[in-house]
Amino acid sequence: MNITVVGTGYVGLVVGACLAETGNDVICADVDERKIEGLKRNELPIYEPGLESYVERNQRDGRLSFTTDVAWAIGEADVVFIAVGTPPDEDGSADLRHVLDVAKTIGASMRRELVVVTKSTVPVGTAAKVAEVIAKHAQHPFHMVSNPEFLKEGAAVDDFMKPDRVVLGAESDYARSVMAELYAPFVRTGRPIIFMDIPSAEMTKYAANAMLATRISFMNEIANLCERVGANVDFVRRGIGTDERIGPSFLFPGPGYGGSCFPKDVKALARTGRDNGVSLEVLEAVEHVNARQKHRVSEKLTAAVTPTLKGTRIAIWGLAFKANTDDMRESPALTVIQDLLDAGASIVAHDPVAVPEARRRIASGVEFAESSYEALRDADALAVMTDWNEYRHPDFERMRTLLRRPIVVDGRNLYNPAKMEQLGFRYHSIGRGRDAAVAADATGLAAATQTSRTGKS
Ligand SMILES: NC(=O)c1ccc[n+]([C@@H]2O[C@H](COP(=O)([O-])OP(=O)(O)OC[C@H]3O[C@@H](n4cnc5c(N)ncnc54)[C@H](O)[C@@H]3O)[C@@H](O)[C@H]2O)c1
Repeated sequence: MNITVVGTGYVGLVVGACLAETGNDVICADVDERKIEGLKRNELPIYEPGLESYVERNQRDGRLSFTTDVAWAIGEADVVFIAVGTPPDEDGSADLRHVLDVAKTIGASMRRELVVVTKSTVPVGTAAKVAEVIAKHAQHPFHMVSNPEFLKEGAAVDDFMKPDRVVLGAESDYARSVMAELYAPFVRTGRPIIFMDIPSAEMTKYAANAMLATRISFMNEIANLCERVGANVDFVRRGIGTDERIGPSFLFPGPGYGGSCFPKDVKALARTGRDNGVSLEVLEAVEHVNARQKHRVSEKLTAAVTPTLKGTRIAIWGLAFKANTDDMRESPALTVIQDLLDAGASIVAHDPVAVPEARRRIASGVEFAESSYEALRDADALAVMTDWNEYRHPDFERMRTLLRRPIVVDGRNLYNPAKMEQLGFRYHSIGRGRDAAVAADATGLAAATQTSRTGKS
């Protein structure tokens, strides 16, 4: 099949490369000339495990090509995927400018019957708006499909090649049969293609992300309470995650969710609710809790690095919003860095892949270390912000020797608190009892009783 993917970001590039991998002829089109020139030389603009070899192989074999000529690329297609960005507008709603721009080009440039797929995350009603714009200029029949994408950055290729399910909102048999044929190679193990109407498909994506964000904020609140009452969130997590009705995923507390999707999608769904007179109170709380949680690591540092952060040097491990990506959009590390700079600390940061991205985002005040250990030299404390594998089993002796003070604030709960204490660290993590005093100091709430209950000071 001749496929054109418009928008060659995280989603568009993965979709294009994976569809080429299954034998389709794919053109990826983007307005960003630098990105396209780089891709023609197999230089990826993002870090995504496994993607480079797909791009290289399929480009070499002539199934995948890149262009900035969006109109020409659309003219070549039987199916067009719209995968451009939908950033939040000032009022939290999804900004559809890029999507509607592409719609205009589709209407003017299509040269045969076309299936138009919205892959970008867009609010209910967007496919109808896109259809309206295309119809103004279209000379050929076209069929709208909403096909939300559920890939996770860091595991995107695997997620696309072996999806849990494929959601397809379509309203014509032609569109349903084309899409079923296109996705057949990806669901051979029996994963379902779930056909539905277009508004339901559009809503499914937001509901999925809102549910996942809700689980994270819920567990972060439970973790914060665990600290105060002397419970350990690790046990609580396993205790509830084994309940089949709950399941184990997305129950890990941490420094708050970030990335390009959860923050903007939660905002956009809440906004859709408000626009339609339906107040989504759970979602408003999810967002509020997350905004607060992003300061949790800095609060713990403030309490642990006495008497003041001013003039101290703080090491940060991890800048990406999660492991296996260099994406720093809404990363909690950015919040912590700003908090620490505001408090007068200096920062030395390490990340296995996100440093180039960090240099673009952070104008000044942060030094970048070549290695994780280098970052620790003469630092007054370490904050762990991203759960990269290389941080999971470090050489603790070496860490302690390099640090000026043996303080570790672990925003990802990577280490065993008892072991860390034995090794001579002053170790603080999220929701594991030990931190009752720190939590209380940081929030200004009395904690004497909690501290004695945990048996720790
Ligand atoms: N990143 C994810 O993990 C993820 C997962 C699922 C869904 N989504 C959704 O997919 C969409 C794309 O997200 P992303 O992370 O890939 O975005 P991105 O910002 O990485 O990429 C968007 C690309 O679109 C290009 N673009 C913008 N306007 C264009 C136009 N008029 N013509 C051609 N190209 C244009 C930009 O240059 C950019 O390369 C968003 O709606 C997002 O919510 C993202």
